[in-house]
Amino acid sequence: MSNEIDALLQEHRSFPPSDEFRRNANANDESVYDVADREAYWASWAEQLDWQTKWHTVLEWNAPYAKWFVGGKLNASANCLDRHLATRGDKPALIWEGEPGDVRTFTYRELHAQVSKFANVLKSLGVRLGDRVAIYMPLVPEAVIAMLACARIGAAHSVVFGGFSSEALRDRIQDAEAKVLITATAGYRRGNLVPLKKLADAAADDCPSIEHVVVVMRRAAADELDDTVSMKPDRDCWYHELMREASADCEPEWVDSEQMLYTLYTSGTTGKPKGIVHTTGGYLTEAYATCKWVFDLKEDDVYWCTADIGWVTGHSYVVYGPLAAGATVFVYEGAPDWPKQDRFWSLIEKHKISIFYTAPTAIRAFMKWGHELPEAHDLSSLRLLGSVGEPINPEAWMWYHKWIGRERCPIVDTWWQTETGSIMITPLPGLVATKPGSATRAFPGIDAKILDEGGNEVKVGGGYLAITTPWPSMLRGIWRDPERFESQYWAKWPGIYFTGDGAKRDEDGYFWLLGRVDDVINVAGHRIGTMEVESALVDHQAVAEAAVVGINHEIKGTAIAAFVIVKSSRAEEAKRDPAKFEKELKDHVSAKIGAIARPEKILVTVDLPKTRSGKIMRRLLRDIAEGRALGDVTTLADPTVVASLKDKYEEES
Ligand code: PRX
Repeated sequence: MSNEIDALLQEHRSFPPSDEFRRNANANDESVYDVADREAYWASWAEQLDWQTKWHTVLEWNAPYAKWFVGGKLNASANCLDRHLATRGDKPALIWEGEPGDVRTFTYRELHAQVSKFANVLKSLGVRLGDRVAIYMPLVPEAVIAMLACARIGAAHSVVFGGFSSEALRDRIQDAEAKVLITATAGYRRGNLVPLKKLADAAADDCPSIEHVVVVMRRAAADELDDTVSMKPDRDCWYHELMREASADCEPEWVDSEQMLYTLYTSGTTGKPKGIVHTTGGYLTEAYATCKWVFDLKEDDVYWCTADIGWVTGHSYVVYGPLAAGATVFVYEGAPDWPKQDRFWSLIEKHKISIFYTAPTAIRAFMKWGHELPEAHDLSSLRLLGSVGEPINPEAWMWYHKWIGRERCPIVDTWWQTETGSIMITPLPGLVATKPGSATRAFPGIDAKILDEGGNEVKVGGGYLAITTPWPSMLRGIWRDPERFESQYWAKWPGIYFTGDGAKRDEDGYFWLLGRVDDVINVAGHRIGTMEVESALVDHQAVAEAAVVGINHEIKGTAIAAFVIVKSSRAEEAKRDPAKFEKELKDHVSAKIGAIARPEKILVTVDLPKTRSGKIMRRLLRDIAEGRALGDVTTLADPTVVASLKDKYEEES
């Protein structure tokens, strides 16, 4: 890691915005950074939304509990749809392309009608203000419609990424006590059908809170799935049948600014994912504000954020932010390399995408596939590029700049988290000279700082990234777990938000993100807790103990390596056919959590290095898994353990 940090800090290239970009940018005056009165500043953003009742107090802060725009009433779906009808009714709100190439477009008026109908459907199924609705879907328009329909009636959605296993879905439904589950027959991924309904059934059968399962027929898939989709009488209903009967007239529920908009589960340092809670007024205000300034959204942009709605990026920057800003949002269902590795570039060319927001892991895959692929396409519609989810290495940044941005488009490297709700550290593309690998400056109104262990600010140098004052889209808590909320984020320094990330600040005040400092691994931009993977491994009947670490990976940034101690009863078998045994364990983790948690490497061991207090020394395991010289071993209970482990894996590699 320290080599990487040194390399980053030797990065002196700087890319100021062109005069033309600066002139036309939504934020083009340095004075936007002078936020003297933070509350007045955020209130001026909130005023750009539609409120049924205006707030009486901008902020009530009883650390760590914040309330924004107190007393105000609004509706998120009305802000994303209704308020655009008069001026943008016929403008495309959503342009969607499925992996097989089917395209569907919804104008604001059409999306409004679909959302209103589905809101009535949800009501007819008994969903009320404050209820939770689980969404487990492929990236199809109905997923967006379902989210907005929940918002319309004041129900909170809990979207579970369609790549998660049925067990992961079951745990999330049970924790949130969702009343209704919305799913689809299947989704497309790399030409294959992912049988979501089947997975959803396995979960829902164990969830007594679920009263109904609504199933979207993925039309192109219907024929192929006839015998794999079974509908449970009284519980399951077809989306298209319910929609046929539903009225397109549904007055939005005017909810309190602090009404829960959604919960979204994310990994932390324990074995159990936590339901991050976001509310309505503050969240929407900041998602909207960052879209306007970071993505510089203009009336004629076609904006594509490649995230799935299963992640927070899909919530804030596929649905709520851009639709609140009245943008045309493009959504693609499938894989970037299907049917060929140039699918993204052909989509940009075909749909004339002007703003493209993706993850470093994707960029590194594109690099590997070669610049000849984007070069063969007309990408002249692009004017702004974004990156999110993990640190972007300068090499990937430069490639993105050269081959996708054609040295014309500013790149916004945006740092934020499920918990922050919106982008927190980012260049404003018309104002900030970018440096490859740096997320640059805090968004105006955000107090991001580097602190040392004692909570003192580090002006230039490294430490922990912290947010020192409340912001509108901050998480309001962890669903039904206030203790964890307080201890996880607010215990290190009272009243100050601990991000879990390490970062550095250079002489220009720019932030350089260095990755997680806790037991969370960022695999291909997705958060996985080491404990979650360890629990999945020890759940396998052959595993006695497991320790999981993140290792460097060319494409994923970080991949998972798992050290496992095999029970003596299975040790012979593991030795006889190690490849088969490793695959069995990897498959087990995929089945328990989902393919994103699948370990890259399984290393069988007879012991694990532990400190005298019994803590696993992950740093040493990382050294071994990556074949490096061993770090400090002086605190180990039994230094011979690690030495023999290292010998073993050096021999094998
Ligand atoms: O470690 C940081 C990394 O992703 C974490 C948040 O993950 P998640 O809640 O899943 O949200 C991802 C999308 C916002 C952070 O704690 N991260 C996110 N963006 C960046 C980043 N690391 C470096 N640079 C970024 N731009």
